[in-house]
Parts: sequence; structure tokens; C-alpha cells
Amino acid sequence: MCSIIGYSGKEMAAPIIVKGLKRMEYRGYDSVGVATESDNQIELKKGIGKVNEVNLKIQLDTLPGKVGIGHTRWATHGKVTDVNAHPHSSNSGKIAIVHNGIIENFEELKKQLENEGYSFKSETDSEIIANLLQKNYELTKNVRETIMKTVSEIKGHYAFVAMFENGQLAAARFHEPLIIGVGQDNIFLSSDVLGFVEYTDNAIYMKSRNFIILDKWKFQILDFEGKDVKYEITKISKEFGDAYKGDYAHFTLKEIYEQPDTILRAGEKTVDAITKTADYIKHAKNIYITGSGTSYNSALIAKQILSKYAKIKVETIISSELQFSPDIIEENSILIAISQSGESADVLDAVRIAKKVNCKIISIVNLLTSSLVRKSDVVIGMNCGPEIGVAATKSFTSQLVVLYKIVQKLSNNNITINFENFAKSILKILENPTKIQQIAKELKDISDIYILGRGINYPVAMEAALKLKELTYIHAEGIPGGELKHGPLALMDSNVFVIIINPNDSTYSDTLTSAREIKVRGAKIIGISDIESDVYDYWIEIPKLDEILYPISEIIPIQLLSYYAALEKNTDPDYPRNLAKSVTVK
Ligand code: F6R
Repeated sequence: MCSIIGYSGKEMAAPIIVKGLKRMEYRGYDSVGVATESDNQIELKKGIGKVNEVNLKIQLDTLPGKVGIGHTRWATHGKVTDVNAHPHSSNSGKIAIVHNGIIENFEELKKQLENEGYSFKSETDSEIIANLLQKNYELTKNVRETIMKTVSEIKGHYAFVAMFENGQLAAARFHEPLIIGVGQDNIFLSSDVLGFVEYTDNAIYMKSRNFIILDKWKFQILDFEGKDVKYEITKISKEFGDAYKGDYAHFTLKEIYEQPDTILRAGEKTVDAITKTADYIKHAKNIYITGSGTSYNSALIAKQILSKYAKIKVETIISSELQFSPDIIEENSILIAISQSGESADVLDAVRIAKKVNCKIISIVNLLTSSLVRKSDVVIGMNCGPEIGVAATKSFTSQLVVLYKIVQKLSNNNITINFENFAKSILKILENPTKIQQIAKELKDISDIYILGRGINYPVAMEAALKLKELTYIHAEGIPGGELKHGPLALMDSNVFVIIINPNDSTYSDTLTSAREIKVRGAKIIGISDIESDVYDYWIEIPKLDEILYPISEIIPIQLLSYYAALEKNTDPDYPRNLAKSVTVK
């Protein structure tokens, strides 16, 4: 959603904060702002746009002082305007805050404060925190008491950093991430280790209901009741340093190209967890798999491969839907939660519902420091490294590899997958994107794309539609091939493109028939297949593979197609409009 950062140290704060915000921009990117303290004065600059754009316009990084806070916003309360951007300062101008999350009782608090003479400039729920802190600070004259009183008054999920005019920082966490970076001569408070990884690899993962008060680089961590909290300094994995674009124009392209490597790393360091998971599954009363977006599409594939190759029945649940029918979950079953970030509020909510009825939680997750990990009985790591592009690419294929490994285990290793050879065949798809780039040009002006697949290829069609929507803003829809005649055929005419996912598996001839039915209605056909056919106007060749592996080889060219079509349409493939990487609100 949003990212927050605070810095106190020996260096000038603003340039360090701007760099940190740039790295965390994937979390939210409609506006940005920085405030710093120098000579007991708070200065603040903010505006709409992405970090580099705003910085170029108003030079956020020239603010003076060695203490500061910063924010990138993904609007929830209030439109995308300069005024609604963070930081927000209190009426006295003596306190400034940045906030991630939602303050549920902000209307009530706002009325109360207005009655006491406070005024508000923005439409945000966050500004309330600044004025509440001012009120409580004037009352207590003590930062510790001020934070304790403020957190007892606000309701919702939040992490905020507050800066006082004397240069003191304080930050509180309730269910939104907040990590402390502990450097030699500096301290960072950040939503993500990416905010400070360049400066220190020492991190403290703050617990929910904890807060920190900070004077220069001396700090104290307390709980909301004011008791000292013991903490542990963790070494951050060096791989976070990889979150650079390198020679690639965009993170999304880099992440697509990392897949021959990430496929080999998926589930790598958690082999025991895969064995344990197989064991849990074998003895489970019921098995449910949940996720959102791309992760849910992986769940749909999991359902099919578990039943086909391991004879195990599972039920898939869209995470955000479970709250409306919680009784689906039977007691003492297992819930497999798939999530790249491990922070999706919907997934965490599904886990909460399942835990209530004593289900065991198995998670397949990329971010091993996430909330989902802490709520799970067994954790399997995707190990694909930071995924910065908002649209999921490499995490999807890593999820599938983890699922293949679970299926392999359950089938007593009767299914042999040579992942090394598989990775090589993926490399071939990526080697020469020229044809895909040419097809992308054809998509520039169209308004509808349909993607057809049957069996295991249908969830791939859904995932393909999601990628096309996110990256190109073209209306895209995945259709189960057999359903064509039950309605969607009415949409086929010369204005549409249809992608036919048609590997040489048991679905091949039925899907080819569907392609012909579409072709005679004038639509243009892009065939994704290992067999060429005259029905395809454009053929994207994929390698001949074992049936179980086709989904990965099918989605990669579609990820590329979506990426290049985004370039044709001049949209930003890394940061699609209105979206955020971690959807930590419901
Ligand atoms: C799609 C996409 C989203 C996420 C969804 C779940 O490209 O990025 O649909 O898949 O928000 O996110 P995680 O996996 O982090 O729970």
C-alpha cells in the first residue's frame, strides 16, 4: 500500500530517504513527500507523481537536516492530490507524521478535534494522527506518554512514524509492517528492508502493538502498555540487495528473465517443509487452498494436479470470499495459503478464519519475514528474491514449481521432473522475443482480448488475462474452451484477438476445434502451442514438455507479450495505475 520511512543519523537525511522511497515505490506510487528537521524546525515537501518525477520538480532531496521522514502513497482515503500526500504536519507545525494503513475511527476523532479548535487540510485519515499527537504532547510533554495515549485512541491497522520539532522520532506498529534498520551511526524505521538495505544489514522486525522512541541513534522499544520490549537483531538476506533493475529497462522485464533461475530455486531451502506438507496432506480430513489474484490462479492449478497426479481432492477458495461463507471450512483440516508477499489482508483473514476451527496452516510464500509466515505451521519458501514489478511474474512460476514438488512427494516420486532441463527450455522461450514484440504491436489499438484454455490450461488463461489487464489496461478475459458455445462465441468478430493456449496434451484437439470456430467469425488468433497450425494468425512456439509443466511455458510468453504491449501503449509496466504490490487492506 503505502511505504513509510524515518531516518536519524550522521548523514543528511533527505537524499537517503528519497533513495529508500524509490526502492519501496512498488508498495504505492501516486504521491510522495519528505519532511526533515533542522535547527528545531520542520520543513516539508510533497507532491503527486512518482518519486523521481516529484524529486525532479521540487527537489525533495535538498531538504536540510539529519533527521527526517518520508512516504509514498497509494490513496485509500482522499483523492490523489498534493494536499493529501504525506507527510502531514500538526496544526502547530511542530510534529509531522507519515502513516501506512487505515484509521477506522478517524471521522469520530476528527469531529472531536475540530470541536477543540483543530483544523484539517487534507481528506486523509492520517492527518488525524498528527493533531492527536500534538494534543497529547501538549498534555503530557513526553514522547513516550504521547505515543501510548495516541495508540490507545486510534482504531484500525497502522504503522506510523512521527517526527517532533526537536528532532526526536517515534514510530508505532499495529498490524502493518515496520522494520528498524540499525546502522553504525544511523537508525532507519521502514515498511520494508528495501528502505535501508544499502546502509545496513541489521534489522529488527518490530512486533505489532510495539512502538519505538528514538533520540539520534539511541532507541528504546516498548509495548503499547509502556513496558520495555526485548528485541533481536536479524541479519537481512543479502539477496535483497538484488532489487536493482540492472541492465533491464524495467523490473518486470528483469523478473520475467530471471525465471530460468528462480524455477531452480523454488522451494530449495525448505525441502523438509515440502516433506512435512506432503505428510499433512496425506492425513488431512479436508484440504483447502486459498490465495488472491495470481496466487489464486496457482491454487486452481494445484487443485488439478493434486487430483490428477496424487489422487488428492482439494477445494480452492478465493481468500476475499471466505468471510462470506466461513462454514465451508471444516474443523481440523488444513489450509494451504499461497501468497508472494505474505501480507495480503484477504489471505491473512482467510488464515484467521481457518485457525479459528483448528486448521493447520501451510503457507507457500516468498517473503519469509511476512505476517503469513508467523501465522503458519509449515512454511515453504518460493525463494524467487524480491519481486518489485507490481504484476506477479516470477512468483507465479515459483509457486507452481513448489506445487509440483509437493505433488512429486505425494506420488512417492513417481513423477520425475528434470528441473535443470526444464529451465533450459524456458531459457529458449526468452532468448528471442522478436516475434512476441511484433505481435505486441498488433495489440496496441484493440480493446478486447480473450484467452482460451481447457483443463490445466484454463487457470493459465485466467492468469494470462490478469497480466494483460494489469500491464496493458486492455479488457482481457480467460474462457474455459468448452464454454465458448455457451455464450462467449457471441463476442467473436474481426475486432477481437483471441489467444489459444493449446499445448500437445489431452486438451489439444478440442481446443483446436474451438480455434476454428472463432476464426470463421473473423477474430485474429494467437496460438501458444508446440504444434504449428494454419488456424493461428500468429504462432508462439513453446517447447514440447510433460503435461504438468506446460503452464509455466505457456505463461512466460504471455508475460512477455503483456510487457511489450504495455510499452506499445505507453503504460508503465512496473507500476500499473491504481494497483499496489502488497494489498494490506481489505
Ligand atoms: C497479479 C498480482 C495480484 C497478486 C495478489 C496477491 O499480477 O500481482 O493479483 O497476485 O494481490 O498477492 P500476494 O500473492 O502477495 O498475496
